Amino acid sequence: MSSQEITAAEPPPHVLIFPVPLQGHVNSMLNLAELLCLSGLHVTILLSDYTHDRLLRHASLQSRFSRHSGFRVATISDGLPADHPRVGERIVDIVLSLKEVGGPQFRRLMESTDGLSDGSARRRVCCLIMDGVYSFAIPVVEEMGIPYIYFRTISACAFWSYFCLQEIIDAGEFPLKGENEDKLTYWNKKEMDMMVTSVPGMERVLRRRDIPRFCLVEDVNHPGLQTMKTETKMTANASGFILNTFEDLEGPILDEIRKHIPNLYSIGPLHVLLKARLELEGMESSHNRSSSFWEEDQNCIAWLDSQPASSVIYVSFGSVTILTRDELLEFWYGLVNSGHKFLWVMRPDSIVENDSGNGNQIPAELEIGTKSRGYMVGWVPQQKVLAHPAIGAFFTHSGWNSTLESIALGLPMLCWAYFADQITNSRFVSEVWKVGLDMKDTCDRIIVEKMVKEVMEVRRDEFLKRAHSMAILARKAISEGGSSYLNLNRLIEFLKSTVS
Ligand code: UDX
Repeated sequence: MSSQEITAAEPPPHVLIFPVPLQGHVNSMLNLAELLCLSGLHVTILLSDYTHDRLLRHASLQSRFSRHSGFRVATISDGLPADHPRVGERIVDIVLSLKEVGGPQFRRLMESTDGLSDGSARRRVCCLIMDGVYSFAIPVVEEMGIPYIYFRTISACAFWSYFCLQEIIDAGEFPLKGENEDKLTYWNKKEMDMMVTSVPGMERVLRRRDIPRFCLVEDVNHPGLQTMKTETKMTANASGFILNTFEDLEGPILDEIRKHIPNLYSIGPLHVLLKARLELEGMESSHNRSSSFWEEDQNCIAWLDSQPASSVIYVSFGSVTILTRDELLEFWYGLVNSGHKFLWVMRPDSIVENDSGNGNQIPAELEIGTKSRGYMVGWVPQQKVLAHPAIGAFFTHSGWNSTLESIALGLPMLCWAYFADQITNSRFVSEVWKVGLDMKDTCDRIIVEKMVKEVMEVRRDEFLKRAHSMAILARKAISEGGSSYLNLNRLIEFLKSTVS
């Protein structure tokens, strides 16, 4: 469908998209926003001031959206000071703070005429598409008679486990039990390896150590756990539910979810669908398409150009993971000892300052030692890197965007999940899709070395074969007549029907 199909006589439907203000969520939601703009809809994206500032500082949001006249940005405060840490488990603070301060701001925004409507050129909002933890927005849109749709930027398997959290708790299979806050000493190994019986469709896959964790808690009344549990159940009350996945990847789990939420739109991989639609519109150009919160290092591409095909392992643990110096050193020695070259993304805020006062800088031994073996960098254009012929595998934290980006390119993965949904994604990578290995909750240089060798050499052909067939299925899903292609069209039809 092209943007020309909606006539200029009447302003088109106006959709408000409201992501959790974190990189992974914003990336997925901006992709959806652009797809809706391409279909001629008007879109406003609601960001936190902090996120908007990051996007303006390091990325070319305006340049990316300048060709879509129907795109706007609105902002609210997340209620936290600018210097509040927004990484690691502290991201729960953003969710809890927005829960406190978001409601009144959202109401003001929706009730102000010029806030979102632009006079006669733009309708008032016809539908709200929102992330999973914004129930404070529901009374406002319900009073105004505006339908709402949830869009969770996680996998179907992780969402489904969140959805079953109460059942998991009732069965005594969560939360983790332990004596201190060290995540590796929760439960003993035998207990961690026990299968989880309370998530239908996952009885043969999910162990206790694979349950999604957004904070490592013992207390069932922990506000983070409570929020995630209750907010996820509310998904069933919405007019629809969007997931960035595809039927051939997660069909059986999507069928389980449909028993509770029938109007489900699986429209992934969104970044591939978007690329295809842009090409169709003749828009594939040199436009800067970035929406990064950090400045992208482009020099790493020249470094990759000088490396042999499939010889480099790309290492990135995403936008919120933090590492201790010990973990950092285990990874580094494991990588170096594997004998393979690596390109490693190390965000400036990703190392935890430890008690021994070693600071949060990359240790000097590591910076010097890396020069002959690899390339360390603050942030990269990841999709460009993953598509580079020099990349042989992806050592990832199993964030859902990263997982889909890897699957779409047919790249084998080595997974070290940090928290939340990632813990379940990595299990599916190794046990269900069989496109890589799951290191899970170990972080030891010997294991890193062994697993890097397995993914890059020993089991490479086996993983490559599976990954290639998965990539073909992803392409099929977004192509004309494919499941994601049709579901996106169905979603757009629904959005058009919301014009009152
Ligand atoms: C977290 C969750 O784990 C994820 O599943 C959820 O959907 C969003 O929040 P995050 O740590 O941000 O995600 O990881 P991921 O979902 O993989 O998203 C990271 C994004 O940043 C990807 O789109 C990736 O391409 C991009 N990226 C990463 C870069 O552009 N450059 C980099 O150097 C690293």
